[in-house]
Amino acid sequence: MLRLQVLKSRTRNFSQRRLKSSSSFIRNTFIDYFKDNHGHKHIKSSSVVPLCDPTVPFVNAGMNQFKGVFLGVVDAPCSRAVNSQKCIRVGGKHNDLDLVGMDGHHHTFFEMLGNWSFGDYYKKEACQMAWNLLLGPYKLKPENLLVTYFEGDAIIGLQEDRECRDIWKEIGVQSSHIKAHGARDNFWEMGLTGPCGPCTEIHYINPDGSLTEIWNIVFIQCNREADGSVTALRRQHVDTGMGLERMTALLQGVPSNYDTDLFRPLINVIEKNSKGVSPYSASYKSDAAVDRAYRRLADHARMIGACLADGVFPSSRSVGNGPF
Ligand code: ALA
Repeated sequence: MLRLQVLKSRTRNFSQRRLKSSSSFIRNTFIDYFKDNHGHKHIKSSSVVPLCDPTVPFVNAGMNQFKGVFLGVVDAPCSRAVNSQKCIRVGGKHNDLDLVGMDGHHHTFFEMLGNWSFGDYYKKEACQMAWNLLLGPYKLKPENLLVTYFEGDAIIGLQEDRECRDIWKEIGVQSSHIKAHGARDNFWEMGLTGPCGPCTEIHYINPDGSLTEIWNIVFIQCNREADGSVTALRRQHVDTGMGLERMTALLQGVPSNYDTDLFRPLINVIEKNSKGVSPYSASYKSDAAVDRAYRRLADHARMIGACLADGVFPSSRSVGNGPF
């Protein structure tokens, strides 16, 4: 009897622990943090189909639905917003299609958690809010985090973002964990044209020393024009993006996104229906063709599901030179 009670209580504790780090708990924690602690309005994810924007084949970031606000042609719906946006990256500037299956953290479809300031708070508040969420509710350790900032670029016409570097120092990040990078990594653009700006990325340092980018904070202050020039916007904004799948893998303590509650059920179904094929090895480092195939099938099934739910059918969108 006593043994049974101990077992029952262990099971309860286990399921409570699992519930605490479930992907939906992680998503809600992000949204509630910005809504309740910092006065953001929760705005629904838009469809994966861009609304009146031929410059991108699919919505590729949380900021897409706010592009007009950044450009000053649409009124902001509020001064601060938070959401979880369905994103697809299979074409254009941000195209992860060829990477899918090769590692454990790139996807054609993913959810981007983001917070926005429309001409309201800027660098200091954005960095502080992100840091407090990671160390507070998500319980990450500062020694496992590294931040990058923009080192400047003569062609773009922007200098090193020392303001951002100093903000991280004031927040308490060790100098050895603050690195400057060039435009390729730390100047974010949605496509060939559109709102853009220097960014600061927060990375998780894995036990093997490799880095996983978990959060990108973009200081939207420019627009990339059709002639390739970069002009200053009238107002400055904040646009951030955290990959739900990556954060879930981190907080669930599993080796890759495919081992989280967002993917494991799909992998299980694929295993069940793949007769005569070895099971998924559960190691993102495995480059066995069969493991890459498991990851690709699971990824693509989610992406196709999201497309169908938003009314995208084969041939209804063009990606690159061919039909999707
Ligand atoms: N828009 C930024 C990104 O997609 C936050 O990384």
